[in-house]
Amino acid sequence: MTSGLEGVVAAETVLTHVDGSQGIWLLRGHGLGEVVARFGYEGAAALLLEGFAGDGLDRRRVRAALGAGRKAAFARLPRWLGTATGRPLSEGVAVALAALPGYADAWAIAGALAVGIAALLRVERGAAPVPPDPLLGTAADFLRMIEGASVGAARAAALDAYLTTVIDNGLAASTFAARVIASTRASLGASVIGAYAALTGPLHGGAPGPVLDMLDAIGTRDDIDAWLEHALRRGDRLMGFGHRVWKGRDPRADVLKAALHRLGPDAGRIGFAEEVERRALAALHRKKPDRPLETNVEFYTALLLDAVGLPRHAFTPVFALARSIGWLAHALEQQKTGRLIRPAAAYIGPQPQAA
Ligand code: ACO
Repeated sequence: MTSGLEGVVAAETVLTHVDGSQGIWLLRGHGLGEVVARFGYEGAAALLLEGFAGDGLDRRRVRAALGAGRKAAFARLPRWLGTATGRPLSEGVAVALAALPGYADAWAIAGALAVGIAALLRVERGAAPVPPDPLLGTAADFLRMIEGASVGAARAAALDAYLTTVIDNGLAASTFAARVIASTRASLGASVIGAYAALTGPLHGGAPGPVLDMLDAIGTRDDIDAWLEHALRRGDRLMGFGHRVWKGRDPRADVLKAALHRLGPDAGRIGFAEEVERRALAALHRKKPDRPLETNVEFYTALLLDAVGLPRHAFTPVFALARSIGWLAHALEQQKTGRLIRPAAAYIGPQPQAA
């Protein structure tokens, strides 16, 4: 047995297939490039929820369902904000999620995250929450609700590429948490609350903010090698590198890098970041020659979310917004099995003393 359950098959799924050693990521049989370019976030959500909450729904109808979910969530916003304001954003979102079990369905839950996170960011800036425009796609409307005005198509497209790329990724720690909770027949909202809590850790979805902190701390090209060597000697983990499943190049990192390049020649300090990436990979391969450590999705997530104008403390909540659809699809799939997840532990503690 391994303490991290690596290689253990804990569920059957029709949702995403991830083979990290071969660089394969498939959503219901569609490759990542196709899902991002052809389906977008709403199309990917339609694929994931088909057969669970989205029977017969195409991209257009899912867009309308998510828009309606945001509209319904805005009507309940005061309750959300009442519990969440005055706390750090990530914690505020966690506290406000307690309202989710009262939300009716998957669309309302995803809508609540978009509206709630945008509203908390507005309140932080001393501005009033902006009502959603249910006719817009999630990415464009989310940025609009934060900024109070429509944003350009390029930024909305970049955020859409991000939301689509991370919408699901097999049995990630947060997704497993969602499935465990769903297996107890707790509500869908309860699954999302638990999954969010699992996501916030720096070994999972808490990594992208610290990626930018690392780039800031390195500062200039001349300091890259010395900074990396010092960090590795101290035993630090370099944020944005390594993955439990992706042992070769993570294709999601390349999709986000391409989306970032489309935003402009030096969007998100991409030139500097690419240099840090190159030298970090070299340093990791020198230090751990037997470990296949590569760039993970969080490295380019950090750069892309920064380039579309989101503050770094919003990165994990925005990841949750994207992944909420994956969590919901997995929770619904788990519910269909009707079987409680309840593994066993090997007891290695003391035995009763002989009298
Ligand atoms: N920097 C330095 N060393 C690393 C890194 C890293 N980023 N990642 C792994 N290692 C080292 C570990 O210290 C460990 O060394 P040891 O064997 O001497 O103790 C060894 O490599 C473990 O390698 P793996 O078994 O391949 O890694 P594991 O599956 O346990 O961990 C994880 C994966 C948690 C993502 C790890 O690579 C890490 O901490 N990365 C940095 C944080 C990060 O970027 N998280 C986001 C992940 S992506 C996502 O969740 C969406």
